[in-house]
Parts: sequence; C-alpha cells; structure tokens
Amino acid sequence: MDIFFDKAEARFGERVVLEPVSLRLTQRRIGIVGLNGSGKTTFSRMINGLVQPAAGRVLTNGCDTAKDGARVRAMVGYIFQNPANQIVLPLIRDDIALGLQSRRLGKAERDTAVMAALDRVGAAHLADRRAHELSGGEVQLAALASVLVTAPGIVIMDEPTNQLDLRNRNLVARTIGALAEDVIVISHDLPLLADFERVLLFHEGRLVHDGAADETLARYRALAT
Ligand SMILES: Nc1ncnc2c1ncn2[C@@H]1O[C@H](COP(=O)(O)OP(=O)(O)OP(=O)(O)O)[C@@H](O)[C@H]1O
Ligand SMILES: [Mg+2]
Repeated sequence: MDIFFDKAEARFGERVVLEPVSLRLTQRRIGIVGLNGSGKTTFSRMINGLVQPAAGRVLTNGCDTAKDGARVRAMVGYIFQNPANQIVLPLIRDDIALGLQSRRLGKAERDTAVMAALDRVGAAHLADRRAHELSGGEVQLAALASVLVTAPGIVIMDEPTNQLDLRNRNLVARTIGALAEDVIVISHDLPLLADFERVLLFHEGRLVHDGAADETLARYRALAT
C-alpha cells in the first residue's frame, strides 16, 4: 500500500476532530490504537474517502480521495465497527455476490468467486445462512468475505475482535494474519497488534505516536493509566 497524508485534517461542522496529519504508510500490517473518541475511525475513513479532509490531502495509491473516490474505494475494502450493518441481503451468498455486480459475470463464475472468498476466511459453511442468524464472529468473517470478493488490495478493519469470545477472537486474528492483502486494523485488543510492523497512536484528535508495535503499545498503556 501507499497511503499519503499531506497535512490532512478532519472536521465535523466547526469542530476539528483530527488535527493535521502528515505521514506515509507503506507497510503491510498497520495497527491503530487510542482511547474512545480519539479519532481512529475518522482517520481510517479518510483513507478510503468516506471522510474527506477539510484541509490538506489524502492520496491512496496515488489517487486523491477527494477527486477519485470510486477508484479509491475499489482499492480499499472497509469493514465497519458494526459489520452487521454492512450485510444488506438476507442470504450471505447473495450479499457477497453484490460486490461482483459491476463485473457482469455468469452465474457459475459468480458462485465460484463467492465461495472462494468465503473459503479464504474459512467460512464456506456460512454461504446459505441468513445474516440475522449469525454470531458476532460469523458476521465478522462474512463481512470480510464480502470485502475480499472485490479484490481490494488494502483491507481496513475497525475493531474486528470487539465483542467476540476467545475462540472467535482467535479465529479472526488468525484469518487476519493469513491475509495476502495489506491490512490496517484499529483495535483495543492489543495482542492482536503486537506483531504488526507499525502502530499509530491517536489521542484527543492528534497522532501522538507512530512507530514499532512494542513502542507504540507501551505508550498507549502508559497513557491509559
Ligand atoms: N459523523 C460525525 N459527526 C460528528 N462528530 C463525529 C462524527 N463521527 C465522529 N465524530 C466525532 O469525532 C471524534 C472522533 O471520533 P472517532 O469515531 O474517529 O473516534 P474513535 O477513536 O474511532 O473512537 P472509538 O474507540 O470509540 O471507536 C469523536 O469526538 C466523535 O464524537
Ligand atoms: Mg472508532
């Protein structure tokens, strides 16, 4: 990935929620930590253009998120803090197939792609399940499959292990670890980020630390006490 923040700032109305950030992200595994309300989700949404900079620019793989939103969103898959909200069709296989609509595939090809995406996250058994029946861990995997089917290159996950029991947490953590895509993970689950190449710490709307995982996580622990 190549994500470039050039003095990019976020505001909601008059309120600055993210002070200008300048950095370049090129690693394959990037973590984001910080207290509730510190700006993590806002920062991550700027990467795929869901939040536009009020000042400065964000270039994702060279594309300006303010000018080329559709291209940016095709390159960056985003799994929301509440992934249940992004599953729109009742049947999981139909929901995942939605991501393939623009490709004009035949039914057989589409089914194959859907099953391949589910297989990649170890969730082929969910294909014919109904979204509202799934457990939290299953929803997370189904949402990941529906993002992967579009072949995004970069995947952002906002608190993917939140509310999962230990078994599902470990399953999701292993699945993330095995992804070939570049990943950006926001989490309060610090062990999940321990082996990431780079971790960013946000505090009160500012990027306050950017470094190796052990260093940033130690800073975060100190700040939270
Ligand atoms: N759509 C919005 N409109 C107005 N204010 C918003 C909006 N989204 C976020 N904010 C504000 O921006 C600030 C940063 O929010 P953000 O969601 O980025 O925090 P976060 O670090 O992801 O928090 P959490 O750990 O609770 O998910 C908060 O004060 C929040 O209230
Ligand atoms: Mg958040």
